[in-house]
Amino acid sequence: MIEFNNLKFMYSGGKKFALDGIDLTINDGEFIGVIGPSGAGKSTLTYAINGTVPHHYKGDFYGAVKVNGLDTVDNKPEKIAGEVGCVFQDIDAQMTATIVEDEILFGLENFGCPAEEIEERIDEALKALRIEKLRTRSIGTLSGGQKQKTAIAAMIALRPKILVLDEPTGELDPQSSREIFELLKELNKKYGMTIIVVEQKIMLQCEFADKLLVIDGGKAVHYDTVEKVLEHSEDLEKMGINCPRIVTLARMLHENGLYDGVYPAELDSAEKMVRSII
Ligand SMILES: Nc1ncnc2c1ncn2[C@@H]1O[C@H](COP(=O)(O)OP(=O)(O)O)[C@@H](O)[C@H]1O
Ligand SMILES: [Mg+2]
Repeated sequence: MIEFNNLKFMYSGGKKFALDGIDLTINDGEFIGVIGPSGAGKSTLTYAINGTVPHHYKGDFYGAVKVNGLDTVDNKPEKIAGEVGCVFQDIDAQMTATIVEDEILFGLENFGCPAEEIEERIDEALKALRIEKLRTRSIGTLSGGQKQKTAIAAMIALRPKILVLDEPTGELDPQSSREIFELLKELNKKYGMTIIVVEQKIMLQCEFADKLLVIDGGKAVHYDTVEKVLEHSEDLEKMGINCPRIVTLARMLHENGLYDGVYPAELDSAEKMVRSII
């Protein structure tokens, strides 16, 4: 569980709060999609979860964040890393090895994983991401999607209860982007891992996330089930977030009194909505 208690954070030398009163709870096993315009504070929020804010990125910090009971101010990021695995936007900067299996190995060694467990953990991580075949490949020869999976595998090997990803599909084509979300959903369902993913691709977020967290100007302006947040599609569009077209259709039908059901977040419920009115 992650508890944000009226968190405010301003980077040193900054003029306004990058996070401005975040007050919410993320429960175990939830799949949270974080969306919001550029500069909204999404990445800063991920830093506040793993403790790099305020330990690495200094600034004015008010309120509190607790990750599975660990206060992120009182506990070092190395301690928090036992609970939360993070895959940041710049994965090239995050990866240290030249061979896939070594990338996973280095993480385990840094983490102090017992030697007799290492082999099993590498196997398990490669299998969970379905990249067994990439085991001995050189990271430099991987596609963007394969690299992203390797970075996630290295995190999974540490068996964190929470996985945080910042724009993991930013540089991927639609097919690979979808694969990443399918894998995240599998980790969420099969291992009960809490998934928090910052991602601009709203269609994927709507299809795979349980809840959406909309950040704007450092504030959590919406935090609810996907269907509930989509009811604010006009609001989202003002922030430059383009909702799925089916949501615009639902809104028009609502406004004209032709439909009063839930806003569809994916194709099946969209079909149900259309069938209900014809
Ligand atoms: N390392 C940093 N130092 C100073 N200001 C920063 C730093 N990183 C981000 N900011 C500022 O904090 C605000 C939120 O940024 P960020 O969390 O990166 O937003 P997002 O990920 O939603 O695009 C922005 O105004 C940005 O300029
Ligand atoms: Mg960002």
